[in-house]
Amino acid sequence: MKPKLLLIDDEEGIRKILGLSLRDAGYEVITAADGKQGLEYLQQENPLIVLTDIKMPGLDGMEVLQRIKSMGPDTEVIMLTGHGDMDLAIKSLQLEASDFITKPIQEEALFRALRRAEEKLAWKRLSKRYKEDLQIQVKEATDQILRMQKELLQAERLAATGETVAGLAHAIKNILSGLKGGRYLVNQGFERNDIKYLKDGWAMVERNIEKISGLTKDLLTFCREREPEREPVNPNDLIRELFNLFQAQCQQQGVLLILDLDEEMGMVNLDPKGLLEVLTNLIGNALDACTLEEGVIQKPEITIRSNRLPGKKILLEVKDNGMGIDREVGQKIFNIFFSTKGSRGTGLGLLLSRKIVQEHGGEILFHSEPRKGSVFQVILPILEESGGS
Ligand SMILES: Nc1ncnc2c1ncn2[C@@H]1O[C@H](COP(=O)(O)OP(=O)(O)O)[C@@H](O)[C@H]1O
Ligand SMILES: [Mg+2]
Repeated sequence: MKPKLLLIDDEEGIRKILGLSLRDAGYEVITAADGKQGLEYLQQENPLIVLTDIKMPGLDGMEVLQRIKSMGPDTEVIMLTGHGDMDLAIKSLQLEASDFITKPIQEEALFRALRRAEEKLAWKRLSKRYKEDLQIQVKEATDQILRMQKELLQAERLAATGETVAGLAHAIKNILSGLKGGRYLVNQGFERNDIKYLKDGWAMVERNIEKISGLTKDLLTFCREREPEREPVNPNDLIRELFNLFQAQCQQQGVLLILDLDEEMGMVNLDPKGLLEVLTNLIGNALDACTLEEGVIQKPEITIRSNRLPGKKILLEVKDNGMGIDREVGQKIFNIFFSTKGSRGTGLGLLLSRKIVQEHGGEILFHSEPRKGSVFQVILPILEESGGS
């Protein structure tokens, strides 16, 4: 089917003659006597090709061309020019007219120009469809990538869960073998009527009951989102409390426990239970680092330090001269169930400590050198007291 044409020319004769031969050739033709009318018809009838005279009173052909292109660049415009209009004709091509034909109009030139305009239209339609197809394909591909990304994330999460469950199973297995060992000793005690076996076995059972209740408590702490229950406390008091708690054990194991407290510390708003747990973990780890490899560390000592920092912060530090941490281990010490202590560790202490510290808006840092020792630092922001002393 031939496309709809709009013919704009102020000469009635041209409108008539051109109109006739175009209709003869099978085109549907609308004619307009000036630019203004032409633009009106353009909006009403949506012709695909416009033939417009260049020189017209009122809106001339160049104006018409520019307006058509600004309304819809897909309309093809063929300029009808007089003999002396070469400059204008060339300018019209720069303004994206598809062609120009000079008056008096030769049918051959007219139809050649029309054919070219139609080819252009066909090409534009094709490339438009192509573009749409391409857009659909790109969208499908993007959707697929997004789907795959989601699946990958899920798989990663599953893998992480798998690791956690494996760690948990390992921890439970350790405790279970402890319990079985205890049961064996108790049974032996009954069979042999030996109170020593009974006592040792029972102690072993009790130790492992302690372990499993500790593990359960730690796991619950880890799973629960919790706001710290803050109250004004002097961190030095908490540290002294821990000093008394650990001193006997340290003496027994030949480890010197040293306090280095900032007496200007004052009261700080924090969760005393949470902080006690953090420091207990850090001191416990320091003690392990000094004692787990027997006889290796000369004059083992642990220093607990407090310091009020500038910028409304406090520092609590646990330093040891124990076995230290190498690079590879250092990258994993905060991982759930990561422990280098076999059945003696749970691999939850640092993870939980960091959680509690982060819930306080603080951070936990460490520096360590293998065979020299480690220092773990807790830095907490001081929140303004909301009442209290
Ligand atoms: N002060 C320290 N010196 C040396 N190694 C440490 C120290 N603190 C932590 N670690 C390492 O980090 C690991 C994880 O610590 P933690 O989460 O408390 O678990 P656990 O003490 O049950 O092993 C320990 O097994 C140990 O390898
Ligand atoms: Mg620990």
